[in-house]
Amino acid sequence: MTVVTVDIADRPYDIHVEAGLLGDIARHIAPYSRSGRLLVVTDDNVAKHVWPEVLGALTRANIGAEVFVLPAGEAGKSWGQLEKLTDWLLEHHIERSDHIIALGGGVVGDITGFAAHVVKRGCSFIQVPTTLLAQVDSSVGGKTAINSSAGKNLVGAFHQPSLVLIDPDVLVTLPTRQLAAGFAEVIKYGLIDDADFFSWCEDNLDAFFAGNAAAREYAIVHSVQSKARIVAADEKELNGTRALLNLGHTFGHALEADTGFSDRLFHGEAVAAGMALAFRYSVRLGLCTVGDADRVSALLERAGLPASLAEADVTANGAQLVEYMLHDKKMSGGTLPFLLASGIGQSFLSKDVVLGDVASFLDAEAQS
Ligand SMILES: NC(=O)c1ccc[n+]([C@@H]2O[C@H](COP(=O)([O-])OP(=O)(O)OC[C@H]3O[C@@H](n4cnc5c(N)ncnc54)[C@H](O)[C@@H]3O)[C@@H](O)[C@H]2O)c1
Ligand SMILES: [Zn+2]
Repeated sequence: MTVVTVDIADRPYDIHVEAGLLGDIARHIAPYSRSGRLLVVTDDNVAKHVWPEVLGALTRANIGAEVFVLPAGEAGKSWGQLEKLTDWLLEHHIERSDHIIALGGGVVGDITGFAAHVVKRGCSFIQVPTTLLAQVDSSVGGKTAINSSAGKNLVGAFHQPSLVLIDPDVLVTLPTRQLAAGFAEVIKYGLIDDADFFSWCEDNLDAFFAGNAAAREYAIVHSVQSKARIVAADEKELNGTRALLNLGHTFGHALEADTGFSDRLFHGEAVAAGMALAFRYSVRLGLCTVGDADRVSALLERAGLPASLAEADVTANGAQLVEYMLHDKKMSGGTLPFLLASGIGQSFLSKDVVLGDVASFLDAEAQS
């Protein structure tokens, strides 16, 4: 087992990564159950594929569990579901000392974390992520949110979990397209500041997708180490360090908006195309070599991810895409900070990007 600590000032917490962990989850979780019972939140796919194993492990350890099942997918992160979930927690007499268990992907983790933040003015929660995206990204760092009619993740809070439990084996039932979407965020850590890890991804991509246990565990551990380091340096995205995690996300957000935040383009797929665009835009600005941008696209495409507007099936023109970027919550003070790169593993935040130029770049991309 590998333990990574997220070293946040007054409330550090651990991430445990171990193949087979779920079969033995009671050992990790027993200290957090009050009078021998736990409140668990999941979604209907995870309830089918993962919950039976977890329930079996808890039952063997004489820990009782009540479970709240959300509808799978982005619709689970709504005001309506938040109301149902908080009512359910209160009906089950949740107390501030309780730890709610979030068993699922980013949707379950985000709404459970937010519910934990608001119910009884703040309870604790434990993340048990079951998608690759949640394991390497959303379960760590304490961003929680639901969607509102104005957009995605616009209502939320910073609320760190008390513990993160990751079992790489849980990915066996995850559809390959979801696995690839999560892998985009794995590649992102290499692109931000870790060229050696990017090379590792090139060398081990096939083993990872073939289900090689060592490759999967390494990719997850390395990713959470990167995320933990960045979050510890800038928990609330105030000094620019945490903003590096948004590499590919400004372009990606526009692509997601254009495809209606739907299953047409998963978040990780939009981020993949967004990272390829960020690198090619950096080439256009004379910051980065064509060779590096080509390496990025080649690796993404090997993972089955889109690396261009056409591959992401986006037909909007540059002006429309820039308009979507302006509605992104990451905009501050009327300017749009952009993540650019001077090479693989050399990303940086730029505040001098000219949006008209981004629009003409995207028009040129659409024609290439
Ligand atoms: N808080 C953060 O820092 C952060 C970071 C990135 C993304 N997010 C959020 O995370 C969400 C996306 O997360 P996601 O990609 O995990 O999506 P998700 O939670 O919708 O899960 C994807 C699909 O996989 C299914 N699933 C989950 N685990 C499975 C398993 N082991 N086997 C089979 N099916 C399984 C789910 O039911 C769902 O249908 C978005 O809402 C996004 O905004 C949050
Ligand atoms: Zn992301």
